[in-house]
Amino acid sequence: MIAPSILSADFARLGEEITSVAGEGDNRADWVHVDVMDGHFVPNLTIGLPVVRSLLTTSDVPLDCHLMIEDPDRWAPGYAESGAYNVTVHAEAARDPIMLAKNLRAAGSRAGLSVKPKTPLEDYVEILKHYDTLLVMSVEPGFGGQSFIPEVLDKVRTARRLVDTGHLRLLVEIDGGINNDTIEQAAEAGVDCFVAGTAVYGADDPGKAVAALREQAAS
Ligand code: DX5
Ligand code: ZN
Repeated sequence: MIAPSILSADFARLGEEITSVAGEGDNRADWVHVDVMDGHFVPNLTIGLPVVRSLLTTSDVPLDCHLMIEDPDRWAPGYAESGAYNVTVHAEAARDPIMLAKNLRAAGSRAGLSVKPKTPLEDYVEILKHYDTLLVMSVEPGFGGQSFIPEVLDKVRTARRLVDTGHLRLLVEIDGGINNDTIEQAAEAGVDCFVAGTAVYGADDPGKAVAALREQAAS
């Protein structure tokens, strides 16, 4: 699965930018990844719930909301209630991650848990039983256009093993520095869903970039 991140899109034309990956066939994104940053959990600020609500009306591509915010226990369920398909919170920020997962599912979305590059997966294996998605960060969260950190692939391999042996039921997603050169190693490690900002919205034709990434991941 390919999830273009609109962090690298033109924020004055977000609706059109989403439509550009919402066509038919190979050019269509599986999810559109929306980075919500609060200027506290990460040193950058983007958009919040009112904008996400508007984006939800622009296409039928499911929205994958990645909340890089403090106090997700309080704010994340609102994204689920508004219709986001997958809502991911950070393990480092959640106060009661099990209750939060339950609240997200009750509000109608998939529940995602994300770990920063230096956060060990071991601490969260029990908690992950309550989640539908694990988002492994392959850059420090906060900015697009950074270089892929290959060391995080060990976490992907561990998660893949836990899923394949039936210990967890999760979709494994990776975010940061994914492009035509790095996607293969991530695919080999066992990623199911690839977030790509610069590689999609930095390209002349975002739809074609989605198709190229998908082909590269499968090769
Ligand atoms: C970074 C964000 C990413 C970002 C990825 O904190 O979570 O989703 O948009 O951008 P690229 O693909 O350019 O590394
Ligand atoms: Zn993200």
